[in-house]
Amino acid sequence: MSDSGMELVDSIEYMSARALSLRTEGKSIGFVPTMGYLHEGHLSLIRRARGENDIVVVSIFVNPKQFAPNEDFNRYPRDIKRDERLCRESGVDYLFYPSSNDMYPSGFSTYVVVERLTGVLEGKSRPTHFRGVTTVVCKLFNIVRPNRVYFGKKDAQQLIVIERMVKDLNLGIEVVPMPIVREEDGLAMSSRNVYLKPEQRKSAVCLYKALMKAKEMVDAGIVEAKLIVKTMECLIGVYPHTEIDYISINRITDLEELEFVEKGNTLISLAVFVGETRLIDNVWV
Ligand code: PAJ
Repeated sequence: MSDSGMELVDSIEYMSARALSLRTEGKSIGFVPTMGYLHEGHLSLIRRARGENDIVVVSIFVNPKQFAPNEDFNRYPRDIKRDERLCRESGVDYLFYPSSNDMYPSGFSTYVVVERLTGVLEGKSRPTHFRGVTTVVCKLFNIVRPNRVYFGKKDAQQLIVIERMVKDLNLGIEVVPMPIVREEDGLAMSSRNVYLKPEQRKSAVCLYKALMKAKEMVDAGIVEAKLIVKTMECLIGVYPHTEIDYISINRITDLEELEFVEKGNTLISLAVFVGETRLIDNVWV
């Protein structure tokens, strides 16, 4: 555990040089990439990283390349002062906060694309999203040179895609999957939850309720995907201000859509608009 104060770093060159010299000294680096507006979900990743590494780096970068033109890039919530305080209190060593111009200078033309796994689920609804995620995450890995990186199961497909990228490109980094942190009523924590008006916030619990219902069915031996999805649709239909984007049942290892749940290797996931806000959640069964 480092005893020096946290450094706020906006320079890519400086972060990269520090990381290289720390690794040369034999220090292990744990890295938590984020888009900021930190909540308990992010903090659980940071705490785990703190426990497992000599040095903890958190990045905050609202990555324009993973938002489509019609999405919420401009209004994505930001509060760097609060994030800085939370990171300091959590024992972070470096808060890396690069600018968009430095990350994507004019002439930028290189992308990292994970095929196959990105054509389904979130990738189907948001076709340019994962190319933006893998490109920025690969850049951040090259700058921060982590031994271990921490990703939440909240974004299950993102986690699976990053694991694939690390393996395929021989990045030699350990990817640590972390459980979903939830509000008391079950709503998965998300920076986007601040968009919800009070009556929408009440309806937002429907994602969790539907997933719990699905899990209950699987536990009772009901494994037919169509039946599970139908039951989830009916349950969500009762909640006002909701519109389902997708509900899907997929094999975890390759994200192939399943007709029947394969116990121990199945991802049940969904995206639901609550008002204008698109929420995602999932359960691994
Ligand atoms: P962001 O949405 O800020 O999430 C950063 C990390 O926190 C991700 O690994 C995400 O899965 C995790 N996380 C978010 N909510 C969580 C919750 N309720 N419980 C547990 N973990 C949670 O994901 C991104 O940023 C970006 O796509 C990024 C990877 C930083 C690339 O730009």
